[in-house]
Amino acid sequence: MDRTFLMIKPDAVQRNLIGEIVTRLERKGLKLVAAKLFQADEALAKEHYSEHTDKPFFNALVSFITSGPVFAMVVEGNNVVEVTRTLVGETNPSKAAPGTIRGDYGLDLGRNIIHGSDSNESAEREINLWFNESELNDYKLNNEKWVYEE
Ligand code: GTP
Ligand code: MG
Repeated sequence: MDRTFLMIKPDAVQRNLIGEIVTRLERKGLKLVAAKLFQADEALAKEHYSEHTDKPFFNALVSFITSGPVFAMVVEGNNVVEVTRTLVGETNPSKAAPGTIRGDYGLDLGRNIIHGSDSNESAEREINLWFNESELNDYKLNNEKWVYEE
């Protein structure tokens, strides 16, 4: 099984969408391994988005991500990076397909509701950046045989 890092951004936290978004992940059959409501400081936000340091939108992005608490999660499942990127939808919510999280809840590129790691390597880096090992719960879901073919 693979793991990924998802973060409900400050816009969606302020719009009371945490429950709806977590519900979508649970209904899909994914397993929540860790979760916390967390205020990121500037250093963490910059490190998280370090691949975008030179982009014109970098400062606005860091300022947005640190503007209020985010809901950070580690989620587990088969091919979870690809599966959750599909659930999240494309970067610009005004173009994201209906049925995706961004497509259903967002309108603006700079307020795009949720982050999801884009590869297994990013996932590992981001999980270690946002969580301590002791915060990751190692457990089995009872319904696993009804979610995955054995
Ligand atoms: P994340 O899951 O947040 O990493 O989004 P992504 O992987 O779909 O997109 P990407 O990593 O390319 O961009 C990171 C974030 O920067 C996006 O989620 C947007 O909020 C923001 N962003 C990306 N491109 C632009 C842009 O052209 N203008 C502005 N204002 N913001 C952008
Ligand atoms: Mg990205």
